[in-house]
Amino acid sequence: MNQNIIQISHLSKTYKDGTVALENINLNITDGEIIALLGPNGAGKTTLISAICGITNISSGKVTVGGYDVVENYKKTRALIGLVPQEIALQPFEKVIDVVRYSRNLFGCANDDAHIEKILRRLLLWDKKDKRIVELSGGMKRRVIIAKALSHEPKILFLDEPTAGVDVDLRFDMWELIKKLREDGTTIILTTHYIEEAEEIADRISIIDKGKIQLTEQKAELMQRLGKKVINIKLDQEIDIQLFSDEHNLSQGSDKASIIMHYSDAKKDDSLDRLLIKIKKEKYKIVNIETDEKSLEEIFLDVVGK
Ligand SMILES: Nc1ncnc2c1ncn2[C@@H]1O[C@H](COP(=O)(O)OP(=O)(O)O)[C@@H](O)[C@H]1O
Ligand SMILES: [Mg+2]
Repeated sequence: MNQNIIQISHLSKTYKDGTVALENINLNITDGEIIALLGPNGAGKTTLISAICGITNISSGKVTVGGYDVVENYKKTRALIGLVPQEIALQPFEKVIDVVRYSRNLFGCANDDAHIEKILRRLLLWDKKDKRIVELSGGMKRRVIIAKALSHEPKILFLDEPTAGVDVDLRFDMWELIKKLREDGTTIILTTHYIEEAEEIADRISIIDKGKIQLTEQKAELMQRLGKKVINIKLDQEIDIQLFSDEHNLSQGSDKASIIMHYSDAKKDDSLDRLLIKIKKEKYKIVNIETDEKSLEEIFLDVVGK
């Protein structure tokens, strides 16, 4: 089993004006995983990241990174972390390679041009290394920010809303990039209010709303536990639905020749098996089977919505 690289226990944060941004957060993050903190605007995602990175005061509770307390050992924990903030700010007339080098030096790391080259290549910026920031497209600028965050070889990378306001093509590129970064062994924590983003790249999803974690689960398990499938079995002729009245989760399709079944893998019953046997026994022929799965969006609305 992989170890917990971040441990958060009973973390709460109230801002000076009395806003309760986080309330009793408990979460462990596993070394090497991609976890998405998914929640609507104002949920507390940025505050949670800031607390872990030690850039906002914690009101109560404890956070450790790599075993070190983020308050008592701020320098040690911060060195383990690369942070890509929600708001991006770059000096417009600096050269790409200098921006990344400088960021590395800020962390007190010795120059290492081989490492800088590796990062810039990884982020498809190597051929842009001598360009000034103003000469770059929006997508390239975002990648420079990530290069900066990786300059001091952190074990953990935080991406706060990495694709907010980014168009569809760029979003897709960013997803591919994040998956690649994980291959280097980097633990990745991203926040997002896009359900499809969490669905696409995360191993684990933590749903956060109104300062509280509502649920944390492996994505695959979450989809399976809450996800319901709809199975549509089309037969070669109009059916007598009465023949199937033993099963409660069935209905007849509007074309009268199909059976619609609501099915959940998680129940582990044999209703699907029974249905197929019955269809055979009644001598219907199956023309087509279609399935439709509940999306993470629907699951999210079940948890947070209403
Ligand atoms: N510096 C601040 N002072 C007071 N309230 C804040 C501050 N920053 C954030 N908040 C409030 O804390 C809550 C959580 O904000 P935030 O962590 O930014 O949410 P998210 O990143 O999920 O959109 C919101 O109600 C927000 O208005
Ligand atoms: Mg935010």
